[in-house]
Amino acid sequence: MERRGNYGYDAPYALVAFAAVGTASLAVSLVSWWNDSGRPAAMFAFYAVFFLANAASFFHTTTRGKFLVWEEILDGLRLRGDEQVLDMGCGRGAVLTAVARRLRAGRAAGVDLWSKLDQSGNSSEVTLRNASLEGVGDRIEIHTGDMRALPFPEGAFDLVVSSLAIHNISSNADRAKAIAEAFRVLKPGGRLAIADIRATAVYARTLLGLGATRIARRGLGWRFWYGNPFAGTTLVTASKPEATRGTGPARFLGGAA
Ligand SMILES: C[S@@+](CC[C@H](N)C(=O)[O-])C[C@H]1O[C@@H](n2cnc3c(N)ncnc32)[C@H](O)[C@@H]1O
Repeated sequence: MERRGNYGYDAPYALVAFAAVGTASLAVSLVSWWNDSGRPAAMFAFYAVFFLANAASFFHTTTRGKFLVWEEILDGLRLRGDEQVLDMGCGRGAVLTAVARRLRAGRAAGVDLWSKLDQSGNSSEVTLRNASLEGVGDRIEIHTGDMRALPFPEGAFDLVVSSLAIHNISSNADRAKAIAEAFRVLKPGGRLAIADIRATAVYARTLLGLGATRIARRGLGWRFWYGNPFAGTTLVTASKPEATRGTGPARFLGGAA
């Protein structure tokens, strides 16, 4: 699928740091080699390869890999096209617009705090512009809010997605709060698909404690590494049982079919 929007870079300072350390190591290695210092030259050549390879992997993931992997995740969800979907920590809309393209009759909401440390050039205006460039401006809505206290009623969504967002919350207790919020706003029978680089075991445990079913975790492969396998992304999927006490369906998004 051709992308028309501009989605920036995830954690831009990490990408710049990898590239800067790699380039500096390369320079030191070349100078050492020029001065006939064999050992430092080899050591800095190793650092250069390591950090530049990390930068290349990170760059590929944030500009291409994550989009390809999310297309596959969304394909696997086999949406009907009339769902109400929430993207928690939607940023500039990479996943929000991808899911909205599949919603001929449904709608997608994005919620975010617009941190420019977590994504370059992050803002609600950019996300709205991307949605309109992708031809889905009429199927999305944007909310400014914290995913630990979602501004939506219980049982509002058929599907909650999130990509690389929840780990930005600093404690596991608060990450668990975000997961509990995602589960609260799901309709009975609704589904969750959360991709992240850290704490996914905490997400799975929290979902188990909340009574979620069909909880699964799986690695998303090299296309979703932020530099190396230790910063690889894992997908957590789960469902909300049909008959969870106290969760009646609620309509929230306007304009749904
Ligand atoms: C790395 S970006 C990923 C954005 C988008 N999901 C994507 O894949 O392109 C992480 C996003 O999480 C958002 N975020 C971080 N903490 C948040 C919180 N507590 N509530 C809502 N959004 C948050 C950031 O503002 C940022 O947009």
